[in-house]
Amino acid sequence: MSEERVISPRLQEEEIALDASLRPRRLDEFIGQERVKANLRILIEAAKGRGEALDHVLLYGPPGLGKTTLANVIANEMNVNIRVTSGPAIERAGDLAAILTNLRRGDVLFIDEVHRLGRAVEEILYPAMEDYALDIIIGKGPSARSIRLKLPRFTIIGATTRLALVTSPLRARFGAVYRLDFYSPEAMLAIVRRSAAILQVEIDDGGVEEIAHRARGTPRVANRLLKRVRDYAQVRADGRITREVAQAALNLLEVDNLGLDDIDRKVLRTIIEKFDGGPVGLDTIAAAISEEADTIMDVYEPYLLQLGFLARTPRGRVVTRHAYEHLGIEYPQRPDQPPLF
Ligand SMILES: Nc1ncnc2c1ncn2[C@@H]1O[C@H](COP(=O)(O)OP(=O)(O)OP(=O)(O)O)[C@@H](O)[C@H]1O
Ligand SMILES: [Mg+2]
Repeated sequence: MSEERVISPRLQEEEIALDASLRPRRLDEFIGQERVKANLRILIEAAKGRGEALDHVLLYGPPGLGKTTLANVIANEMNVNIRVTSGPAIERAGDLAAILTNLRRGDVLFIDEVHRLGRAVEEILYPAMEDYALDIIIGKGPSARSIRLKLPRFTIIGATTRLALVTSPLRARFGAVYRLDFYSPEAMLAIVRRSAAILQVEIDDGGVEEIAHRARGTPRVANRLLKRVRDYAQVRADGRITREVAQAALNLLEVDNLGLDDIDRKVLRTIIEKFDGGPVGLDTIAAAISEEADTIMDVYEPYLLQLGFLARTPRGRVVTRHAYEHLGIEYPQRPDQPPLF
């Protein structure tokens, strides 16, 4: 059910075409993430200067912040081909071997969800990343022997929403590891403006602000809200997005002034009402709202943590005073213990 949420940062099927038109292609078009861009510029320029393949790059951070986009941008800036795959798509070691032997010098192999690579596949990847070599076993039983195949120099760009699940030997083989953070309010404004221009939507500053503000610091959500507000403006107004039009459309979608929707509120309310505000374990919360713990961790929690509405403690998740205030619920006094926040 989370896939239907208008503020879900996850990519939805019908968005793929839209995605392609809105995706920045060069580093200059890529808005925000200044620190990551500054580092990448140096990495790219240095590799180009030496005429070498780029170091392997690992990108991590919550969904919808631009990992896939950035991988494509890097390949464009390096003027190389990009081959796209994902951890769960590479089922056998042989699948990976086939992909690797087809790469040309300098090419980028983008592995999405790199934390979901199988063990056997990962083991092929280690020498490939480190020595550009493929160890393959020929034959079976006592006559089996291992031969080493040279590979061209290439670049792996890995992406993950869960850095903690990337095994340490794999992580150690990435020369550069960058974390993408939620976008600043200014970057979000620029992203909404850029997308509106590409989609040729008429929008004023108030409309831009309203959408940017409720998009959870996430470009994918901004693009989706823009699209929904555009529909609303076309049907209920004169096609122009003003602050009033954006507010009316977003209220109808039940996206509140901080970008929270009914499921976010349900997570918070459940912890408050059923577990006295916490601490409560993730699995318990998941069971109480009939969601998967993984989904909560990947999709809902990062933004609630970022807002300071939720805190992680060794004993579980705790709802903070800010969240009570936002929901209009009185923050309980607990005379027997010092306040947590
Ligand atoms: N810096 C940016 N400037 C403008 N638009 C951006 C930027 N980053 C991402 N976008 C937009 O947001 C959308 C989502 O980005 P992307 O698919 O790269 O996210 P992701 O991190 O790979 O997400 P996931 O974890 O779900 O794979 C893109 O289609 C793109 O249009
Ligand atoms: Mg992606």
